[in-house]
Amino acid sequence: MSFNVADRALMMVFLIICMEELHCSAIQVDPPEEINIIDPGHLGHLDITWSLPASLINFQECLRYQVEYFNTYAQRWDVIQAPQRIYSAQFDLMKDIQIRVYTVLSGHCTNNSVIKSVNYTELVQKPPGAGRGDAVKHFECVFHNMERMICKWEKFPAKSQLFMYYWHNKLNKTEACPKYIYTNGVRSGCDFTGKPLPDFTDVNICVNGSSPEGPLRPKYTSLQIQNYVKPDPAQKPSLALVQDARINVDWTKPHGKVPGHCLEWEVKHTSEGTQYQSKTTHTMSTSLILPAVGVKNCFTVRSKLNKYCATTSMWSEWSHRACISSGNKSDSKF
Ligand SMILES: *[C@@H]1O[C@H](CO)[C@@H](O)[C@H](O)[C@H]1NC(C)=O
Ligand SMILES: *[C@@H]1O[C@H](CO)[C@@H](O)[C@H](O)[C@H]1NC(C)=O
Ligand SMILES: *[C@@H]1O[C@H](CO)[C@@H](O)[C@H](O)[C@H]1NC(C)=O
Repeated sequence: MSFNVADRALMMVFLIICMEELHCSAIQVDPPEEINIIDPGHLGHLDITWSLPASLINFQECLRYQVEYFNTYAQRWDVIQAPQRIYSAQFDLMKDIQIRVYTVLSGHCTNNSVIKSVNYTELVQKPPGAGRGDAVKHFECVFHNMERMICKWEKFPAKSQLFMYYWHNKLNKTEACPKYIYTNGVRSGCDFTGKPLPDFTDVNICVNGSSPEGPLRPKYTSLQIQNYVKPDPAQKPSLALVQDARINVDWTKPHGKVPGHCLEWEVKHTSEGTQYQSKTTHTMSTSLILPAVGVKNCFTVRSKLNKYCATTSMWSEWSHRACISSGNKSDSKF
């Protein structure tokens, strides 16, 4: 390992401070001089860059940066450390962008202690003020059975002209909605069927446009499609009376792309006899044995993605109801 002159100079300062039995962190490190935002037009995926503080120009090999930014979608501050002077993150362009960067010096330049700048450099960028009223409210996407991704929006001004654009990191530039859905002649949704989107990747979406009164405030969203799955309903369960007045309930996963191991199930058991009762049971498997209650027992099932396959999911619709009477005959009418 070789030290240049400036390295030695700082080591000397460090040595002197340490030998005087002060805390080694008494060395002052400047924060970056300025922060800049580069918007490549990817609907909120921004590149943040910052400059090297002039006082540390000779210590680049020992420098790291601590970047703190307000994650507008998660509503919290995110903190990362980076050796490079660029970082990309996702922002809602209709909210304030807040970024703070500290300098961190460590390694042989500081005899392996870690020294962070006391101050940070901050950038706060306000959203563009343009737009009379929101383009849309109640924006919602559902990935039906992992096959048909459909986004819809509501509450748009009458006679407005709306557009939807999207981007993810496999696209060079934003693309327009492949197939619009219309309500009373106004675009009210987008159907991505036949235009697959990547999973476990942020997909950025923007709905913008204008009304006869002028431009509207765009709506930005960033989502990962695996968290918006709504499985198709399952087939009606099949039922069989087994010994000790119990009922075997069996069903199969919906046809299509949703993997069976990703599903959790809710089974609703209703019975009619002396009095009406209803009880639900949760399970990961596709069969259950439940005690018969009363004279007629009915079952219906629904599913959603379990926590091993997605952070969130929507329940499917209930399957058709299957019923069985204690008279041992399966009765599929309802
Ligand atoms: C560097 O740190 C080590 C361990 O903390 C210590 O023994 C050594 O004296 C230090 N060297 C200097 C030059 O301060
Ligand atoms: C930190 O910022 C404050 C206020 O801007 C300033 O007075 C102080 O000197 C700065 N400290 C360092 C170590 O740069
Ligand atoms: C809507 O957003 C797209 C993508 O950023 C942009 O190209 C287009 O000009 C915008 N349209 C309106 C009406 O604001």
